[in-house]
Amino acid sequence: MSKLWGGRFTKETNHLVDEYTASISFDQALALEDIEGSIAHVTMLAEQNIIEAHEADTIKEGLQKIKEKYLNGELRFSVEDEDIHMNIERLLIEEIGTVGGKLHTGRSRNDQVATDMHLYLKKKINQFISQLIDVQRAIINQAEAHVHTIIPGYTHLQRAQPISFAHHLLAYFWMFERDKSRLQDSLKRVDFSPLGAGALAGTTFPINRQRTAELLGFENVYPNSLDAVSDRDFILEFLFDASTIMTHMSRLSEELVIWSSQEFQFVELDDAFCTGSSIMPQKKNPDVPELLRAKTGRVNGNLVGLLTVLKGLPLAYNKDMQEDKEGMFDAVQTLDGALALLAPLIDSMSVNKDQMKQAVEQDYSNATDLADYLAAKGLPFREAHEVTGQVVLYAIQHKKMLSQLTLEEYNTFHDFFDEQVYDAIQPEQVVAVRNSEGGTAPTEVEKQIQLAKHLIDGKEDC
Ligand code: ARG
Repeated sequence: MSKLWGGRFTKETNHLVDEYTASISFDQALALEDIEGSIAHVTMLAEQNIIEAHEADTIKEGLQKIKEKYLNGELRFSVEDEDIHMNIERLLIEEIGTVGGKLHTGRSRNDQVATDMHLYLKKKINQFISQLIDVQRAIINQAEAHVHTIIPGYTHLQRAQPISFAHHLLAYFWMFERDKSRLQDSLKRVDFSPLGAGALAGTTFPINRQRTAELLGFENVYPNSLDAVSDRDFILEFLFDASTIMTHMSRLSEELVIWSSQEFQFVELDDAFCTGSSIMPQKKNPDVPELLRAKTGRVNGNLVGLLTVLKGLPLAYNKDMQEDKEGMFDAVQTLDGALALLAPLIDSMSVNKDQMKQAVEQDYSNATDLADYLAAKGLPFREAHEVTGQVVLYAIQHKKMLSQLTLEEYNTFHDFFDEQVYDAIQPEQVVAVRNSEGGTAPTEVEKQIQLAKHLIDGKEDC
């Protein structure tokens, strides 16, 4: 089969070269965007009298037919035609005859591919924003049910201070809120049309770039034709955003794995979201959060991969840039799968309040409150810390919790201790008094939930 660019060549392309340089195996995912871009381009060509109106109509009808065939899985792409752009052009010419060859007037594959990818990412970013909202809703649902459920809060994975379980979950709500705002902000930069930049320098035809941008729903056009075909920073930015979202989801996944272990038993993941073992009949494995945690690595890899592809490229287009696609598609697919599962995984998990309560009652995470108690009675905090450390050491050595020490025992450490100490170190009390703004006290957590709901649905429960 002769190439669409075959005129200057005297030999058939080596088949290994065809295989090596072709992108059709993966860029066919851009078929719809490619057709959409071509329809806008040909509409503009006719409006500018660069081609005849009836020619544009024939081309548009041909493109519509190709679109239908694509959606019905009837198109056969070929490696000899290299990529989605030349495959569709060839299929168009087969469909409507040589007039199809007018489609590429005043256009290059360089501005064409960049346009396709801008269109593609714009759609996907909007989809991810709404999937993030689903995850946030699931978090709010669980948080609302667990404002008063207390768990040990950890630093260094050592018990630190008791906190509301809702407060812990809501920490992720805010991470996802920032992720959403990063995506939203990136839309501003994806919303530029490269179409009409040509191969690198613009075109001799009297095209109207504003018009194709308008037809494709782009807010702006790239002001510089070289920049328009050369940069892939809109993909880099998406990959960074995707990596950050995956990282946030991965940390939550790690907590779900820990919390659902036999050792913790803080939550139980729904059977529908777990898997079994082929040999150990008792096993119920948290495969979903484990895989999500692992797949974060590939998205990070895609980001670093593209940064590395771009870093040494002279302007303008280089074939290296074809390597922007697989990583982007892979990140899109990975993020999509993870977001789609995380929302129902959180929604359907059951929370073992009793186990959490027991955990909190069997630790020394109320020690800060013992120190605060002494400090409130006038002891400088540094001394209060020292005294409390000695009390904790004594309690550990005597296998007692702080609440089990007698007042006589307390008074051997300091005579500021009195009966009120027992109330001050109750887990509920310890949580309730951390009512500084954004703290874990139920009063503050309720405010957080109202704010979160307002951001998601624009309404609050009053
Ligand atoms: N498949 C190519 C890519 O993805 C399209 C642009 C090709 N341009 C060229 N001058 N070879 O980068």
